[in-house]
Amino acid sequence: MDESRLFKPLKIGNIEVKHRIGMAAVSRCRADDEHVPTELMKQYYCQRASVPGTLLIAEGSLISKERGELLSVPGLYSPQQTAAWKSIVDEVHTKASFIFAQLYTIGRAGYREVNDGKDFEFRGPSASPWRADTRTPKAMTTTEIKDNVRLFVQAAKNAVKAGFDGVEIHGANGYLIDTFIQDVSNQRDDEYGGSIENRSRFAYEVIKAVAHAIGINRVGLCLSPWSTFQGMRMKDDDTISQYTDLIKKADKLGIAYIHLIESRNAGLDDVPENRRLDFAYSIFKGPILVSGGYTTELARKLVDEQHPERDIAVMFGRYFTSNPDLVFKVQQNVEFTPFNEEDFIYSKSSKGYTDYTFSDEYLGSLNVLTQLLS
Ligand SMILES: Cc1cc2nc3c(=O)[nH]c(=O)nc-3n(C[C@H](O)[C@H](O)[C@H](O)COP(=O)(O)O)c2cc1C
Repeated sequence: MDESRLFKPLKIGNIEVKHRIGMAAVSRCRADDEHVPTELMKQYYCQRASVPGTLLIAEGSLISKERGELLSVPGLYSPQQTAAWKSIVDEVHTKASFIFAQLYTIGRAGYREVNDGKDFEFRGPSASPWRADTRTPKAMTTTEIKDNVRLFVQAAKNAVKAGFDGVEIHGANGYLIDTFIQDVSNQRDDEYGGSIENRSRFAYEVIKAVAHAIGINRVGLCLSPWSTFQGMRMKDDDTISQYTDLIKKADKLGIAYIHLIESRNAGLDDVPENRRLDFAYSIFKGPILVSGGYTTELARKLVDEQHPERDIAVMFGRYFTSNPDLVFKVQQNVEFTPFNEEDFIYSKSSKGYTDYTFSDEYLGSLNVLTQLLS
């Protein structure tokens, strides 16, 4: 029997996972042109749910077409999307695993080539582009901000209708919520900017409103305090003060979890950074999900040696793309199949998506695994 805390159950909101290895949200762009999840996506999620008791965070789902468009990512704003997600969620539950929806809107982080020629306007907290060759967003009015809170709420209700175990509010990686949190993208001088408390306000309002609509136990929050992806990252001291404020508020509300991304990850890439998340570990008392550059060895070290006192689940992103049986491989120390960046996105094909095979070790020990986790 593996004694690592990675294989101890953990209560996260309304669910109890059977182990502490999960799948982080990774956009794979296999939805249809109306942002409706596809049968191919069902197959993909089912494969990754195959070790019972696993928590999957589904890839980011748009809360509205008007507020953000990215090629072939799914949405959760229409009845068709909700119904299609439901059939995926049902299959994951049949496998005795769990799945949260991730809700986001891209804000300023869109790409010119995808959006040019479409009836769509980039919006953000301020008129500040994230790179010289990206569009300058329109600074949102207070009414537009409140509208967005409502869109998050509606998408969260749709997620519950689809049977998701909860929703993860995407406050990371330079998308709309993150751009409100950080001063590099938020230069407002109204109640949504200009001070730590004001920059936290939009995220806090979204969390509170979503929690009010679907229950606090169903709400998680994803943050990437140190990430430089899509033009983000404040000065070190400011980062700690800003995120301390928001995480304290999330802790006080009692949300199901926070999900923190390590500094060594910047979106799709590894970067040579070692800023620490410990400041956040000491504030948030509930379960903490962590992702960014984890391997079997680092995951075991984190939960067994570095933070044995905390309830931490380690989320894998890229390695889950190429290892449908990743949880088994961590447990049995089986080498991971390398991921291939060219497969990640922008293809509607099953190639590099659902054609990664289960290891011989997994296939040969299905019975043993069932016993270990029962
Ligand atoms: C292709 C790709 C798409 C991603 N899409 C999302 C997403 O939709 N939502 C999100 O919060 N993070 C997204 N991420 C970040 C991952 O969730 C994760 O934090 C990151 O890959 C670091 O973990 P890893 O080192 O295990 O891959 C994405 C990463 C990649 C490589």
